[in-house]
Amino acid sequence: MTENKIKIAPSLLSADFSRLHEEVRRIEEAGADWVHFDIMDGHFVPAITMGPLVVQSLRPATALAFDVHLMVKEPEKHLGAFAAAGADMLTVHAEGNAHLDRVLREIKKLGLKAGAALNPSTPVGVLEYVWPLLDLVLVMSVNPGAGGQPFIPGMLSKIEALAGRIRGLEHPVELSVDGGINAQTAPQVVAAGATALVAGSAVFRDHGGLELIQAFKTLGGPRRKV
Ligand code: DX5
Ligand code: ZN
Repeated sequence: MTENKIKIAPSLLSADFSRLHEEVRRIEEAGADWVHFDIMDGHFVPAITMGPLVVQSLRPATALAFDVHLMVKEPEKHLGAFAAAGADMLTVHAEGNAHLDRVLREIKKLGLKAGAALNPSTPVGVLEYVWPLLDLVLVMSVNPGAGGQPFIPGMLSKIEALAGRIRGLEHPVELSVDGGINAQTAPQVVAAGATALVAGSAVFRDHGGLELIQAFKTLGGPRRKV
């Protein structure tokens, strides 16, 4: 049995934007695995956050993998810029994306890991014919657009369904969960089969949040037999 360490991806959305460099260093020292960037364009979601220049400016700050979550319309227009900025993984939404297959292939062509994100209302079947292209699935456990929202409990059965589907694949796919992850919800999400946790407000805003990184990592326990 191998130790099944859960990957922790703090979301910079809840970090102090006036000192992002230092925030990234802090989460690296606290044991984070990935840095999660929430890219919002004011169209796919109402908010606007950051673009490739911010990603690029933080690249020298850390060796951690950059997990870039694109909440943007027409993500195909921006893949090259985020790849050049230093992204390691690019995740696009399945919704409103008529050419998910093509976009995922473009990400792979750029030499990056490819992910698909599902809004809470989106069924898992939308991924049925793109599984061979996926390295990561991002289950949105809140509606995208803002940090600090409560976890939607109905997403636990969706995570279970996806975990079961992934177990039947021949290649590894990370099952990441994003939204409302904290000390109460993280164990439930991991028990449902998540392999990666995105957490913004719990890590950056709550008192003692950085300590959660280590606590979350040990949630996996021994790897289940598949
Ligand atoms: C929501 C973002 C999330 C969010 C998570 O649109 O994709 O990454 O920032 O924040 P918390 O952990 O505060 O729910
Ligand atoms: Zn996100």
